[in-house]
Amino acid sequence: MYVCICNAFTEKQVCTAIRKGISTPSGLFRHLGCVPQCGKCVPTVRYMVKETDNLSSASVHYDEIDHFGLQAAG
Ligand code: FES
Repeated sequence: MYVCICNAFTEKQVCTAIRKGISTPSGLFRHLGCVPQCGKCVPTVRYMVKETDNLSSASVHYDEIDHFGLQAAG
């Protein structure tokens, strides 16, 4: 599933980056060699980073979140 429509990166790419130690949205964009455009994916990336300790669970939760209406519970 795409996380960032503007840069066409996927949930799998984000999870791989997080496992490599990326811990911020800006770090992720740098890691993937792109820059935020509309910024709508940033809350999703933050949520995925926050759930690093439980990636498989985060993945399930992520599937339930409307990408463009994300209001991740903190
Ligand atoms: S969806 Fe990621 S910058 Fe637009």
